[in-house]
Amino acid sequence: MTAQQAPPVTLVIFGATGDLTRRLLVPAMINLTRSGLVGSSLSILGVGIDEGDDEFLRRRLDEFLGQLKPGAEEHTRKDEAWDSLRSRISYLKGDFTKDQIFEAIAGRLPPGTNAAFYLAVPPSLFGPIVEKLADHGLTTETEHGFRRVAIEKPFGTDLASAQALNARILERIAESQVYRLDHFLGKETVQNLMTARFANMMIEALWNNNYIDHVQITAAEVVDVGSRGKFYDATGALRDMVPNHLFQLLAMIAMEPPNSFDAEAIRNEKSKVLKALRNYTPEEAKANAVRGAYVAGPLNGVDLPAFRETKDISPDSRTETFVAMKLLVDTWRWAGVPFYLRTGKAMTARDTEIVITFRKVPFAQFRETEVTRKLPPNRLVIQVQPDEGMSMEISIKAPGPLVDIEPVSLDFRYADRFDISKTTGYESLIYDLFIGDQTLFQRADGIEAGWAAVQPFLDAWAQDPATPDVYQPGSMGPDSADGLIRKDGREWHELGVLLHKPTA
Ligand code: BG6
Repeated sequence: MTAQQAPPVTLVIFGATGDLTRRLLVPAMINLTRSGLVGSSLSILGVGIDEGDDEFLRRRLDEFLGQLKPGAEEHTRKDEAWDSLRSRISYLKGDFTKDQIFEAIAGRLPPGTNAAFYLAVPPSLFGPIVEKLADHGLTTETEHGFRRVAIEKPFGTDLASAQALNARILERIAESQVYRLDHFLGKETVQNLMTARFANMMIEALWNNNYIDHVQITAAEVVDVGSRGKFYDATGALRDMVPNHLFQLLAMIAMEPPNSFDAEAIRNEKSKVLKALRNYTPEEAKANAVRGAYVAGPLNGVDLPAFRETKDISPDSRTETFVAMKLLVDTWRWAGVPFYLRTGKAMTARDTEIVITFRKVPFAQFRETEVTRKLPPNRLVIQVQPDEGMSMEISIKAPGPLVDIEPVSLDFRYADRFDISKTTGYESLIYDLFIGDQTLFQRADGIEAGWAAVQPFLDAWAQDPATPDVYQPGSMGPDSADGLIRKDGREWHELGVLLHKPTA
């Protein structure tokens, strides 16, 4: 199926001189231009607090794109697509909390034209910007012109703040105009989750508590907190990754089949799953989670300072850089199947993966043979990143006169078949914003359900004077994380075991 070119639109970026704009938004726009999915009727109006004119922003982007090395980042290099887009970029300087800038924007956007406002700004500005846009009539849609607002994470810092932000925004614009981003949904492998399930009878038919023992969802990172201390100390691993990125993965794994691929049908099913997450009491939350913070130590040949000694982190910080938790999805399909989640910084490998472990076979026929002792359960490993792909672990008979079993894996690697390295992960999100497809964006009720499920953990830890458990940089997290899963008789999937085939 060939995708249609997006309609004419002005993308107004608040925070145009920031990192997100140059690293992801503009490179994604270049890719969309190159592929023809956006045409010459698209323009970008950058809004920022720095002094400057149109050429100022264009030159800044030139410099950034020019620095990118050819090769791995070829997709973001300058070329004809950039030359064409460049001439359609303009810039306005202004204070996002004052009326003047909105008057100036209104001067560039006649009523009846299409516009998408992208809030690449600190979260404290989300509410005020939407209100000012509405005050100046900029969010008023007509039959011929849409007005949409794209909002980056974090959307709230707990349940109450997320509810308040939703209420504030929805007071002025309709849900159909709000595009709440979670950049994980821009990843091909995440979008593939629904296809893997719903286009494959042999997967979906087994997708329930009759056959699945448990699910593990991991987002491990090697990067440490680095220069993001101020943000991170106030946020922590739980808020930063769980109610958003990890829950999006969980929702796609656990949702019921939608009755169409219509955005609302899909968002209904995803929201239902998030609402079915068991809301623990704070005591239960404490018993079903561990938090960790890395100590000082070597990581990739560099001496990493302890999290608490990092710039902008309070020395008595109780913020976690690692979290592991056991969650339950209270639906008929998932009753009794634990979902173990973990995420952390400064770990042994960058590895975002979903591991589905199936129940063991009733191995009566192998009784009293060697086999019973080593018959592993089937596993489906969905490698979200890096080395994107899927691997199905099954047992086969090892050749020979005796019945002996050998686990083998059937592997699919994206890199063997497709080239997905040349995209930023923002292309489909921006394209969908332009064509008005909200499938990959979060709805208010889904966001709030996610926060509701993590709120007991936030409450339990806020009252707990203990500091997070320690872990060494370059490890799999604190020992207590192993304890959490071992008490159920299970083990974490080893990190960094990717699908790499030996290179010839
Ligand atoms: C961001 C978090 O939302 O996601 C970061 O704020 C994290 O702390 C990042 O590093 C991970 O995204 P990705 O795409 O690199 O896995």
